[in-house]
Amino acid sequence: MATNAAKLDRAHVWHPFTQMRDWNAPGHEPVVLVEGDGAVLRDDQGREYLDGNSSIWTNLHGHRCREIDEAIRAQLDRLAHSSFLGLTNDVAPALAAELVEAAGLPAHKVFFSDDGSTAMEAALKMVFQARVQRGEAERTLFLSLGHGYHGDTVGAMSAGHSAIFHRVYRPLLFETREVLSPACYRCPYNRAQPERGSDARRTRVCDWECVNVELDRALQEKSASAFVLEPRVQGAAGMRMHPEGYLEKAAALCRARGVWLVLDEVLTGFGRTGTMFAFQHDAGVQPDLVALAKGLTAGYLPVAATLASPEIFDAFLGEYSELKTFFHGHSYTGNALGCAAARANLRLFREEKTLEKNMTLCELLAAETARFWEHPQVGDVRKEGLICAIELVRDFATREAFPFAERVGHRVCEAARQHGLLTRPIGDVLVLMPPYCTTPTQLRRMVEALWLALVEVLPL
Ligand SMILES: Cc1ncc(COP(=O)(O)O)c(C=O)c1O
Repeated sequence: MATNAAKLDRAHVWHPFTQMRDWNAPGHEPVVLVEGDGAVLRDDQGREYLDGNSSIWTNLHGHRCREIDEAIRAQLDRLAHSSFLGLTNDVAPALAAELVEAAGLPAHKVFFSDDGSTAMEAALKMVFQARVQRGEAERTLFLSLGHGYHGDTVGAMSAGHSAIFHRVYRPLLFETREVLSPACYRCPYNRAQPERGSDARRTRVCDWECVNVELDRALQEKSASAFVLEPRVQGAAGMRMHPEGYLEKAAALCRARGVWLVLDEVLTGFGRTGTMFAFQHDAGVQPDLVALAKGLTAGYLPVAATLASPEIFDAFLGEYSELKTFFHGHSYTGNALGCAAARANLRLFREEKTLEKNMTLCELLAAETARFWEHPQVGDVRKEGLICAIELVRDFATREAFPFAERVGHRVCEAARQHGLLTRPIGDVLVLMPPYCTTPTQLRRMVEALWLALVEVLPL
């Protein structure tokens, strides 16, 4: 029985990344979520679901997290929002200081915006304008990883290389140079055969051609300005995971060529990969720009940040009449409610020792999901911190994918709902990305639900 919310939705709403003909088809009953508690979401029929992808990779400490709720309420009693153009407030600067400290980039400046796309859009424009103002206007070329996804604004799409999402917009986008994605499972340079139970990143047989040949070649371009990538895990690409050491090698090459390193930590930031930020796994990586969003407010409110090096920031300083100002910003920049949520999030990390606590959950996720190797249609099970990706294939030996139109991943995730799990696939890659507050029992139930769904759709 369609509820009032479902009827209004059908009549008036257009959903992101959703084929609305399917959504509005007779018989499709949307899940109307009305409550949350920790890792659990409840719909308007009273059914409970585990939030298996942390509400599209945003939520960290769970829904209705007391500390964050209280921080927002306290801020609400003082000030919800005021302009950040030519003014400031007493929350955003404190958050900026905490962010650069957590990132170990104390001299970087923080530019606030609203979501992952705007954080990346700002980063790209900063690079472009800084080059012009430094007298390096010929350095216009962005290099970025194949299959990369940096959001849906026009600049962020230009830096992205998602065949499906970006295809139709190509004529609208500026040119960027695609660099081979160093994801070992499908890397053309990896000479190892697929092996059940083994992580392709560790059993790979190659000579680091991803850096030594592919990136090196791209960096020869005289106009190369910045290298843009999601460090360690390329999320929307299908949780493509990079081999240990890639970033360190890539960053060193970029530095040697004077090419700026722009890291998109929108997904990987705030503990998802085990460290606070993914670039902190690699020694000596000093990004010039870092984009943060999603987990910044622990999944509560849309706040994003772009951290910029002094070298880039200083390129914008000058007389007003020189027009070196970064003429870019948004109405809700520095939003006090969002910044209060983000500060409470960072406080939780410090006081609750979130990163240390997460280690147990990471180990459990790895142990429990190892069973997926038993399924003949599972080609790869890869894990990084609290991200687990299970790639379904038609043929294990050749890594051949299922035909796109079969929507196998989608069907598995639809079936998982019946077992009380909400998650969203990326093509035929199933994703488990639990909130950090998930209990061991809840985690086991998530894995069990996904397994049951898989064997329903692809029987053993
Ligand atoms: C790595 C990465 N960058 C940018 C974005 C865009 O973020 P938003 O959806 O908040 O605009 C996403 C979203 O999934 C992402 O995964």
